[in-house]
Amino acid sequence: MQRQAIAVALNSPSQPYHVPAEFARHQFTALRCAACHDRNGEQAYREEFHGEIAHLKPPAPILDDEKPGSHKELIPPLDHLGFKLRPEWRTLLLSGNIQPKTRHWLKARMPAFPSQAAELSKGFSHAAGLSHQSEHPAPADPEKIKTGAALTGITGFSCGSCHAIGEKPAFAVFEGEGPNFRDAGIRLRGEYFQLWMRSPMRQWPGTIMPTYSTEGNTPLTQYYDGNSTRQFDAIYHYLLSLGTEPGSGGNAQER
Ligand code: HEC
Ligand code: HEC
Repeated sequence: MQRQAIAVALNSPSQPYHVPAEFARHQFTALRCAACHDRNGEQAYREEFHGEIAHLKPPAPILDDEKPGSHKELIPPLDHLGFKLRPEWRTLLLSGNIQPKTRHWLKARMPAFPSQAAELSKGFSHAAGLSHQSEHPAPADPEKIKTGAALTGITGFSCGSCHAIGEKPAFAVFEGEGPNFRDAGIRLRGEYFQLWMRSPMRQWPGTIMPTYSTEGNTPLTQYYDGNSTRQFDAIYHYLLSLGTEPGSGGNAQER
């Protein structure tokens, strides 16, 4: 019976052996993701051909001196495609179900690929050697949430100058803005969050997000003796406490 099934599968051209990572790699080219996104040092086509197509575009907007960051059009690079985002969130994004969008200042939009979303997302996780289901983070720890809130607040690193926090808009956006903290915990894998915080510039060359840690320490020695890994862990717990799990009912889609 089993042997017969295998024989049928092997002889059936309509059911090629399906490897999600391979599918995703192929689709990345076929769906022209690189038209907009840089990846692994390869510039997005729209940057590469900027000179050639410049005459086709409307004239550059007059820059607003009050808000010099307002003209920035920085589409996130995809170097960490399978590693950065929680897979459930990535699937929602690829299927066009993230509202409002993460970066309200971008004019460019991420297209939706509803029919391929689940398989693509799975493939990107697998290509990074990860499961396509989130390892669920430990429930946010109340002590860490409190410390994380203090670390990000105005007597801490004052992250809210560039990042909106829920309904509270970023209060000092000069060169550019970062995504709303409400979504950061539900979007980002914990491992990537640590990597990002340790050195934003290494993950996204040219980002304006400051580096807070030098050799494993931050200047705020009153928290965990300045240990940056523990401080960032507390911040991650705080971020987790702000969001609602994707797919858990009152979720990202309805906000
Ligand atoms: C027309 C341009 C365009 C194309 C083509 C495009 N994207 Fe995007 N993508 C965007 C923009 C703009 C954003 C940022 C949206 C936001 O944050 O509001 C984005 C965001 C993303 C993100 C979230 C990244 C992050 O760090 O937040 C992922 C993952 C992504 N795209 C993957 C893909 C994949 C995979 C493809 C091809 C199947 C693709 N994109 C094709 C414009 C594009
Ligand atoms: C000078 C402005 C600035 C400050 C201050 C700042 N950030 Fe950022 N942050 C950014 C920018 C810009 C990005 C990347 C923008 C993007 O992804 O489009 C970013 C990205 C992030 C991300 C990824 C968010 C996501 O959903 O993809 C996290 C998390 C983050 N910052 C945390 C922090 C924390 C915590 C602090 C304070 C310790 C902080 N930031 C301070 C500008 C800033």
